[in-house]
Amino acid sequence: MEKLEKLKKRRNAIILAHNYQRPEIQDVADFVGDSLALAIKASKTSADVIVFCGVDFMAESAKIINPDKIVLFPDEGAKCPMASMVDEESLIKLKEKYGYDIVSYINTTASVKAISDICCTSANAVKVIKSMSNGVIFTPDENLGNYVKKFVKDKDIILWPGFCPTHLGISVEDVIKLKNEHPDAEILAHPECTMDVIEIADKVASTEGMVRYARESESTEFIVATEKELCYRMKKEMPEKEFYAIKNAICPTMKKITLEKVIKSLETMKPEIKLDENIIAEAKKPLERMLNIGR
Ligand code: 13P
Ligand code: SF4
Repeated sequence: MEKLEKLKKRRNAIILAHNYQRPEIQDVADFVGDSLALAIKASKTSADVIVFCGVDFMAESAKIINPDKIVLFPDEGAKCPMASMVDEESLIKLKEKYGYDIVSYINTTASVKAISDICCTSANAVKVIKSMSNGVIFTPDENLGNYVKKFVKDKDIILWPGFCPTHLGISVEDVIKLKNEHPDAEILAHPECTMDVIEIADKVASTEGMVRYARESESTEFIVATEKELCYRMKKEMPEKEFYAIKNAICPTMKKITLEKVIKSLETMKPEIKLDENIIAEAKKPLERMLNIGR
């Protein structure tokens, strides 16, 4: 810890961590949040170096927003499988076919963002799609897209068949089993979950939205249908409440970042996120358009 603090001072660095990061990473981070909160934080920091503890698309987004800053990504192998499910060529063909704008979930690569009209996260997907004047092509998460469709009836929404393997693995049976064990618990679900899970949830929200809901709710028990590490943050911030995680809901790529790798990245200033200048310029537009819409 001492070593890390010294390194952070020497480099004028800030550590940003996603809610699914290992407990020890959440503990050393300057800020822990959902994809939207992390992108907003990255857009406002005065640090010279951002150490991004999350997955590739999140670290890339921080770089796109801050091209002049150094963004360290402690394990280059931490790639979100859903973000790899879109290819630019097919996406362009779809845009030509329908003539609609492309709304990209932030869980996309920088090159997909570069050909998108606007981005969104799970926190603002409904708001972003409602703001569009025409039909949209939504990529890549089909579950989130189907969830949005429940609230946006006046637009044609073409869905890309992508998914998050971690959320796909959360079965409605697992959730019902926990509910039978804890009948007073409220069910919180991430919109990347399948529709059967979403339909029995008391609240569907981004990871940050779930934290906020649990804080404000009078309930004292919650079943948390998303990656299990969110419960670490929830319990830390609300020790008087109980949070029941789905045991097999683990995102292996989120777990690739370790404390040792964070320290090493600050010592060696590697691995660093490097993106093509043109990609940054194009990908910045949809990201900034989303940041202007906010949560
Ligand atoms: P949030 O933006 O809700 O934190 O979700 C990010 C993510 O990757 C969910 O799988
Ligand atoms: Fe990607 Fe799913 Fe992991 Fe989120 S939980 S980073 S969507 S694989």
